[in-house]
Amino acid sequence: MSTVLVTGGAGFIGSNFVHHLVAAADHSVLVLDKLTYAGNRASLYDLPDSRVEFVRGDIADPSVVAEVMSRADAVVHFAAESHNDNSLLDARPFVDTNMIGTYTLLEAARRHDVRFHHISTDEVYGDLELDDPERFTETTPYNPSSPYSSTKAASDLLVRAWVRSFGLRATISNCSNNYGPYQHVEKFIPRQITNILDGCRPRLYGEGLNVRDWIHAQDHSSAVLAILEGGTLGETYLVGADGEKSNKDVVEAILEIMGEPADAYDHVVDRPGHDLRYAIDSTKIRTELGWTPQFSDFRSGLEDTVQWYRDHEPWWRPQKAAAEAKYQLTGQ
Ligand code: NAD
Ligand code: TYD
Repeated sequence: MSTVLVTGGAGFIGSNFVHHLVAAADHSVLVLDKLTYAGNRASLYDLPDSRVEFVRGDIADPSVVAEVMSRADAVVHFAAESHNDNSLLDARPFVDTNMIGTYTLLEAARRHDVRFHHISTDEVYGDLELDDPERFTETTPYNPSSPYSSTKAASDLLVRAWVRSFGLRATISNCSNNYGPYQHVEKFIPRQITNILDGCRPRLYGEGLNVRDWIHAQDHSSAVLAILEGGTLGETYLVGADGEKSNKDVVEAILEIMGEPADAYDHVVDRPGHDLRYAIDSTKIRTELGWTPQFSDFRSGLEDTVQWYRDHEPWWRPQKAAAEAKYQLTGQ
């Protein structure tokens, strides 16, 4: 049995991955998380202490990173500042965590010879036209648009450099937009669900024609474990579930599922520099590692997610007012 260090394990995708790891493998898990506004210790409360140890700390702090890395056989690095809208208000935490934090982890992993898996996003590739027949692949050139995606792109390039220059045993995955339980209410899908639960109308940026390629967080978790166990060192894998939907279609589906008229939403001011469309070609991970997503029906995954937020108000309620206060600054 080995020890897997999970950075950002109290966040949305990190906590889904920790649940998946405990259920699907024998490893013990060491979570390193700073518990920023986006981290929630409660996302891990139902897991046994005998399998999951929690350390509160900053991935940009070399001393805490050295301590946890000395006890790890592998690291899966989720910790990040993750919200585009926040990066437009203040990019500094994005530079500190996504770039300096990743650098700090890479140096420690190199020193302790720890297997490294880096979690990234398809947003490093920029965006596509709505009618572009091409989708992102592992060879698409980097072209990030926002402070968030540019700091993620920088972190990917650091990982690639540590592989080439120092022989770090690393892999990278770039995944599309995730949905599912434990997602912070600042993000698109949980924001609209919890607005409706609060008797408020969903808020659609601009015309709502932007397309995102949705994947359930559990499918992302199984893809990451497949790469950790069978991926080729030095390689990048794109992860997606063929889930392209316009934002307008997603809002209408949420309203229908929640028993509201499908047009009961408001258009609000658009995001500056708003990426138009993301779309992933995940042929490589499917053919090389035999991975397939289990949530092939977005509508039923969305129904489960709506039900999860209905059932877990004590989990999301403490975050809601602060998230909406931030949106009031930009009229969104
Ligand atoms: P999140 O914001 O929900 O969680 C981030 C977690 O990292 C939080 O628990 C936070 O406390 C922790 N954290 C932040 N700064 C830290 C620091 N300096 N030190 C230690 N911990 C810190 O994010 P998420 O949506 O779960 O995203 C996780 C990863 O997946 C990120 O790397 C993100 O870029 C990537 N990703 C996200 C999506 C998506 O749709 N959300 C899609 C593809 C890739
Ligand atoms: P988001 O969840 O912030 O993810 P990302 O920016 O990484 O794609 O947003 C998903 C899409 O939803 C994006 O096109 C912006 C849009 N959006 C809205 O229309 N309304 C909202 O209230 C939010 C938060 C996002």
